[in-house]
Amino acid sequence: MPDSIQRAVDVLKAGGLVGMPTETVYGLAADANNVSAINKIFSSKGRPSGHPLIVHIAQAEVSVANDRQASAIAWREILSQWSRDVSPEALILAHAFWPGPLTMILPKAKHVLSEVTGGQETVGIRCPQHPIAQQLLKAFGGGLAAPSANRFGRISPTTAEHVREEFPGDEVLVLDGGPCDVGIESTIVDLTRLDSHGAVVLRPGAITQAMIEQALGRSDVTDGASVNIGSAPRVSGSLSAHYAPKTKLVLYDAKDAESLFSKVNNSDNKKVAWVHFPKDLADKNFGLKNVAKEVLLPLESKALARELYAMLRQLDALNMDCIFFEQLPDGVEWDAIRDRLGRASVGSGV
Ligand code: TXA
Ligand code: MG
Repeated sequence: MPDSIQRAVDVLKAGGLVGMPTETVYGLAADANNVSAINKIFSSKGRPSGHPLIVHIAQAEVSVANDRQASAIAWREILSQWSRDVSPEALILAHAFWPGPLTMILPKAKHVLSEVTGGQETVGIRCPQHPIAQQLLKAFGGGLAAPSANRFGRISPTTAEHVREEFPGDEVLVLDGGPCDVGIESTIVDLTRLDSHGAVVLRPGAITQAMIEQALGRSDVTDGASVNIGSAPRVSGSLSAHYAPKTKLVLYDAKDAESLFSKVNNSDNKKVAWVHFPKDLADKNFGLKNVAKEVLLPLESKALARELYAMLRQLDALNMDCIFFEQLPDGVEWDAIRDRLGRASVGSGV
């Protein structure tokens, strides 16, 4: 085992915090069964205590990778440690998407700490794909509760350096796993209300609603935003302000750009950043004046997801008066990024 993993395991066993690389974003990990370690997550992040954490688990060992039955048996055994009622749907999704960027909400097992679940009867579970996360989970030999390793409400970290910026002291041991490949947080699917609501996507991500429908062979996978959730689970990523830069972030529609930009150009000497797709506007030599920083967006959604948070952090560090960001194209492949950008915009400038 690499020394760095051994050191991280020692920190976790002693109730400390580890910056853990995953394929989505870096997590702030602690022993999911240790109350005081969990409390440290909340105090370090400045996160309100009612907000539940995701428990990360190691991959099931299945000798023949494609053997569905063996996979179901192995996942049932692992998930039963965290959930009192592991549905066939949970096993299908585990087989289809784990390790990977999917979190499932399941009915919690009795012993799962209420500090982890935010006092709810459900628990969020994810098996991450990043090899360092897997090594750490195997070596630790238990579940790791880990929110994204950022201060509450701020931009999620996608490099080890970002985590060190968020937690500059030595209270967090950061494992460097390079830049995250996916770049935005996991899809969260609630499987606790299958009979009444089907599977409900609480947070969009790289695993799309259509992918979940296809894996489950059912067409009642719904978008949490469109379901009346009543007493349903709380998701801090669903707050209207989240993932936010300190600089005001304005999302604009390309068709309104001319009037918006002329207003901005005529107003004052504001220092602005302009983030847009490489088409029409730039070609027409038309746009914003006083642009202190211009960023061209990649045309492919996966590439933008990978780069988005680092881009927002860099722009934020320039202390501009405003960031003008072109709206994303229509199409489901942009949905998860559109979700994050919308919340980033609402929470920005404060
Ligand atoms: O990709 C990810 O999911 C990353 C990496 C580190 O795994 N983690 C992450 O954690 O994004 P966090 O805490 O920043 O966001 C987790 C979201 C929160 O909005 C939380 O409310 C929700 O998951 N969540 C956790 N447990 C839940 C539960 N039992 N019911 C409903 N929502 C839950
Ligand atoms: Mg977060």
